[in-house]
Amino acid sequence: MNTALFGLPLKPGDEVVTTDQDYPSMVAALRQREQREGIKLVVVKTPVVPKSHDELVAAFERAITPKTKAFLFCHVLCDTGQIYPTERLCALAKKHGIMTAIDGAHGFGHLPVDVNAIGCDYYGSSLHKWASGPMGSGFLYVRKGRIKETWPLFANAWDEYADRIEKFEATGTRPPVASAILPALDLLEAIGVERKRARLQYLKRYWVDQLAGVPKVRVNTNPAPEHSCGVANVGIDGVPGEKLADHLRDAHRILTYPTHSSGVDGLQVTTQVYVRPADLDMFVAAVTLVAKEGIK
Ligand SMILES: Cc1ncc(COP(=O)(O)O)c(C=O)c1O
Repeated sequence: MNTALFGLPLKPGDEVVTTDQDYPSMVAALRQREQREGIKLVVVKTPVVPKSHDELVAAFERAITPKTKAFLFCHVLCDTGQIYPTERLCALAKKHGIMTAIDGAHGFGHLPVDVNAIGCDYYGSSLHKWASGPMGSGFLYVRKGRIKETWPLFANAWDEYADRIEKFEATGTRPPVASAILPALDLLEAIGVERKRARLQYLKRYWVDQLAGVPKVRVNTNPAPEHSCGVANVGIDGVPGEKLADHLRDAHRILTYPTHSSGVDGLQVTTQVYVRPADLDMFVAAVTLVAKEGIK
């Protein structure tokens, strides 16, 4: 994603719109461009648990000015698992001649990704998350028509490959992780992304539906399938997410991720295909007990 964010052809005064829920290191890349080059980052406030995608599209639409040159948004938010209306946001951008960079770190391997249907200019994803690839692997898609004008982060062969995707590669010594990517993709294909999505939806509903009615428990994610898939967020009133995550790890050997950078105090709960309903029964019981009795 840094290749896309530092490579976007922008000049001083140009505006990039992103959200208050976007990933801090992506926002930091654009903040650096603000300081170094005088671009302007416009951060829109978005609802943590939107009832409809219209609210997210409207937040971007309101921020557009004649200087807006790019949108940065996530396919799936890290902290809450909110799925963004990628196709609608790209259509809106296109209508105004705005470029779109999608942070798909949690998209690929989690949800179907068809960059042509989405209509984005840049889509980057980690492969070590939902695709179960080797640590440190990922990919960047750049729309063919955008390659020429995009600056590469690694400048090695940029003039030789002016409008080819190889322009963005670091062509020195290659890390051995690359050879472990193909078996991971074979596994993903063997499972099938639609079958995987159905399993992830089932697991998410399995725990969310049980915890949703428990006193003091807050589900910070819209569980409808168009809004979330295998990531959802939960918190307990009066119990900081950090403390809850430590307790679940130390007392129950359950790993979750405490969230706060997006203003959501809770836990990112991620259920990969290999998580079993019996594992989730333990999780639900542990959270229910803390909601009732606190952490002793
Ligand atoms: C939305 C989002 N973007 C970017 C990243 C960074 O990805 P990586 O850890 O592969 O560098 C993450 C990691 O959790 C993420 O959730």
